Amino acid sequence: MSQVLVASNRGPVSFSLSDDGALTMRRGGGGLVSGLAGVTEAGTATTTDGEKAPEVLWVCAALGVGDRTASRRAPDGRLDLAGHDVGRAAVRMLDIPAATFDRAYNGVANATLWFVHHLLYDTPSAPHFDAKARRDWQSYEAYNAAFADALARDAAPGAKAAIQDYHLSLAPRMLRDRRPDLRIVHFSHTPWAPPEYYGLLPDGIGERVLDGILGADHAAFLCDRWAEAFLDCCAARLPGVKIDRAARTVTRGGRTTTIGVHGLGVDGESLRRRAAEPDVAARSLALREQVGDRKLIVRIDRTELSKNIVRGLAAYRELLVDHPEWRGRVVHLAFAYPSRYDLPAYREYTAAVRRTAARISEEFGTPSWEPLILQVNDDYPRSLAAYGLADVLLVNPIRDGMNLVAKEGPVVSERGCALVLSREAGAAAELAGDALMVNPYDVSQTAEALHRALLMPGEERAARSRRLADAATALPPQRWFADQLAALD
Ligand code: G6P
Repeated sequence: MSQVLVASNRGPVSFSLSDDGALTMRRGGGGLVSGLAGVTEAGTATTTDGEKAPEVLWVCAALGVGDRTASRRAPDGRLDLAGHDVGRAAVRMLDIPAATFDRAYNGVANATLWFVHHLLYDTPSAPHFDAKARRDWQSYEAYNAAFADALARDAAPGAKAAIQDYHLSLAPRMLRDRRPDLRIVHFSHTPWAPPEYYGLLPDGIGERVLDGILGADHAAFLCDRWAEAFLDCCAARLPGVKIDRAARTVTRGGRTTTIGVHGLGVDGESLRRRAAEPDVAARSLALREQVGDRKLIVRIDRTELSKNIVRGLAAYRELLVDHPEWRGRVVHLAFAYPSRYDLPAYREYTAAVRRTAARISEEFGTPSWEPLILQVNDDYPRSLAAYGLADVLLVNPIRDGMNLVAKEGPVVSERGCALVLSREAGAAAELAGDALMVNPYDVSQTAEALHRALLMPGEERAARSRRLADAATALPPQRWFADQLAALD
């Protein structure tokens, strides 16, 4: 039987430890984990031609005392997920020293690489590549090496390794050096920065990140734009590199890496099944009561700078100012789940979201009308209920690798929802035909799009929403993952 290794910072599950020593398991959060959820199911199925599906081992970081305890208790440190509701992979959680993890995850991955790829540096948060940054970088190398070591140790001869995201951009090269027999794919779930912006990274570091990814046989992205930007950065930063734009290959030091685009969609059937469960129905009922017969504008995000929540709220305010006829007739439900709270920029952003929301409620709210409901605690069934009832879904990131909210909404929607979508989301490449497209910086244009979306006749809305759902489910995660592995053959 063949073997597939998956490597990502956040794993498919996480554990919490209670005082009496009991462990509770729950599904991990984040877009990457939703995307990869179908992958573990590969361990249970047989392929269409009757071959036994590959054995899957998922390597991730242990993210707390629960994960560490679960790993220590598991035989040989391998957690077997068979029998749980999360497919059938084995999971190995790496116990990375806390200080190394903090510098690699917060210092480099989230505060530097994420900011560069999402064009998030503005004046106050401009990068300082100083002594601390150099120390953080060494930790990022050590963190990547810990993954490469574990993968090299666990991989069967000739196995395939699928390494995920910007946390692990050095690991492909490191793994190749340790195990030349493996076939390696690296997948970027983020956008890729254009060369002028990528140029923020200090000499040496920018090149190492590119070289790290080129250690893979196949480097994959969510849409053409990000793949092209990666090629542009290789051309700008790596002397002597040979790039074939038509064939989408990069050759360096005698080795060629193919560059691929694999869009990620949602598994319509399992999402609809989940949305039909009783916990969602109960929340749907409560929400209906809260909103009454008013129109509902929904947004669902992590409280994340790239998601552009403050401008989204400003657009809602402008809608109420420019079109006062909507006052009392619309409710904006904004889910902004806590995220990356260790970083000051995220804490400040969360405060800005709360301030902006409070000002809108104060300015327009009446005893009988709550114009805006901001919900900050993570409640997945309530999100599904909101998708079901939304008249309008607002997705306005400054930049986004794909954005699965834009895809999940139309799939779960009961009567069809109008989608207001940023042209800077990867999903725009697939959904632009039926969404109302906006420049995420243009608050007035976004307000007008919300107005048009609210006015859209029911029949048109339902028809567009159906086409959006078809596009959103065209590449379910299982297919997305299988395509990456197939690119290694
Ligand atoms: C994005 C990234 C993922 C990450 C997720 C949640 O989707 O591409 O790699 O897991 O955000 O972020 P977090 O820092 O909480 O893992």
